[in-house]
Amino acid sequence: GSKMIITIDGPVNSGKSTIARMLAQKRGLFYINSGLLFRALAYVLTEICKIPLEQLVTLTHDQILKCFDLSRLEYMYQGNSESVLYDRNNISWHLKSQAIDHAASLIATNGDVREILLKLERSLAQLHDVVIDGRDTGSVVFPHADYKFFLTAAPEIRAKRWQRSQEKKGNRLPLDIALKEVNRRDERDKTRLVAPLIEPADAINIDSSDKSMDEVVKVIEGFLS
Ligand code: DC
Repeated sequence: GSKMIITIDGPVNSGKSTIARMLAQKRGLFYINSGLLFRALAYVLTEICKIPLEQLVTLTHDQILKCFDLSRLEYMYQGNSESVLYDRNNISWHLKSQAIDHAASLIATNGDVREILLKLERSLAQLHDVVIDGRDTGSVVFPHADYKFFLTAAPEIRAKRWQRSQEKKGNRLPLDIALKEVNRRDERDKTRLVAPLIEPADAINIDSSDKSMDEVVKVIEGFLS
């Protein structure tokens, strides 16, 4: 369609969702948090259908759809925050746990999962001008996006951000553990066979290590006409 699409990809805790939300608010865009969709599907598979972790990577299209029905899922972006309903229940609260971090990163390696979520992402973008963030939104989901950004930050900085977000939930962990976890998820994102985390050649790279979130948004806005 003729709607505007802005993609923001990058590794774990590079600040994508914060930046995307700020941009959405400033510019009146609909924000699609694609990671939250992976998390929602991971939740439905593991918590509702009780599928064991070791099966997530190899689940087939039919097996996925036996458990998960797209028409039961609703993604909302309202009041500058996003949520996911499943069977009209708001499941958003459950999606940021360490267990779902893990399950989501496992299903993200499954090509059949990615195919199902790709369709959902494209259909969500049909009605509005959108900003979408994730790992492959500029490379695979919207290769013809109007603007593509790739956000990075030093691993130590991303580990500190993750440590802080976990601490807010009462989960205190040492920095070296946080760094290990960030590296582990980076590795898995980059080395998977299907839609690995890559920087699209036509993306604008922004390193947020030494920038505030406001500064990053200003840099992005400088590119938008
Ligand atoms: O950004 P996040 O941590 O909420 O993403 C959750 C998981 O989903 C993470 O393991 C990476 C994966 N993901 C993906 O593979 N592709 C996307 N477009 C978004 C997320």
